[in-house]
Amino acid sequence: MVTRAVDALLDRAVVPGYTKIGYWLRRRSWAADDPAPGSMTGRHVAVTGAGSGLGEAAATRLARLGATVHLVVRNLDKGRDALVRVRGEVPGAEVHLHRCDVSDLASVRACAEELTASLPRLDVLVHNAGVMPPERTETADGHELALATHVLGPVLLTELLRPLLSASDDARVVLVSSGGMYAQKVQADDPELLEGKYGGTAAYARTKRMQVALTPLMQERWAGDGIAVHVMHPGWADTPGVTESLPGFRTVMGPLLRDAESGADTVVWLAATQPPPGGGQLWHDRAPRPEHYLPVTVDRTGATERLWDYVLDALSLRP
Ligand SMILES: NC(=O)c1ccc[n+]([C@@H]2O[C@H](COP(=O)([O-])OP(=O)(O)OC[C@H]3O[C@@H](n4cnc5c(N)ncnc54)[C@H](OP(=O)(O)O)[C@@H]3O)[C@@H](O)[C@H]2O)c1
Repeated sequence: MVTRAVDALLDRAVVPGYTKIGYWLRRRSWAADDPAPGSMTGRHVAVTGAGSGLGEAAATRLARLGATVHLVVRNLDKGRDALVRVRGEVPGAEVHLHRCDVSDLASVRACAEELTASLPRLDVLVHNAGVMPPERTETADGHELALATHVLGPVLLTELLRPLLSASDDARVVLVSSGGMYAQKVQADDPELLEGKYGGTAAYARTKRMQVALTPLMQERWAGDGIAVHVMHPGWADTPGVTESLPGFRTVMGPLLRDAESGADTVVWLAATQPPPGGGQLWHDRAPRPEHYLPVTVDRTGATERLWDYVLDALSLRP
């Protein structure tokens, strides 16, 4: 049994907590807390970036719990392969495929329309799609790619799916952030990462910090519709994304990395556990975690509110 103190120590020590060691140690305390088989029967769950890695692993486990799963992918060929794998793992699973490039606002709008036309309601929306751009890239809408993928697309998709989510009696939104965000603060004065030399790792971590910082504001915006917003980080898991974007890290950490299912565990738990966890918090390995370990990352200047204003303006979501 892992005590609270040991759990917190694992978190602060980073390597043991983020790897399969932390997952294995904490997992020993969870057996009674596992979502019950069939507990997601009749629930509709949409997962972005579900064609590989953590998204596919979360979709598979949610299908195993009985959910009707909607794989939201930008590449339909990869999505079809993932759908076949999910059905192979969970015979009889209700799995559907939808196209959406979450970094492209027109594609987000089209996907929201398709989901709204075809689903009776949406119970869980997982914003899992993620990217670490090797160089600064702008989307069709003129936004920096990591910002568009991790922040703008998810906020717009949630906003447009608000009616579908509010039709659920227990609507949950889960954002998949990254422990890398702990090194970054909110920098509202340069949200499009135009200043200085662009680095993909920093852009990734900065926009993952934005997800964490904005979660309480998203919670506030949508709480009136009965929607709870959670943000989590998965630790370090062996996925195609890590192999492609961080090959050196994967070589060094390879044997210690979690498998995708372990990385996705808290996504599944936040989607399925009862009673519903309170929204607006950061989670890792089924426990709320501090948003900061470094004093320098704490926002004392209202940067988070300024960033939120920027996001709402960029998406034309001001009243
Ligand atoms: N693995 C880890 O250790 C780790 C650690 C911290 C955080 N995360 C986060 O976990 C999430 C899943 O990552 P992963 O490790 O499972 O990597 P992955 O296998 O590369 O999965 C990322 C998925 O996102 C999709 N995607 C990227 N941009 C998209 C867009 N604009 N529209 C729609 N889909 C898009 C990718 O689709 P394509 O196949 O078409 O590229 C891919 O299926 C990401 O948000 C990542 O930042 C992972």
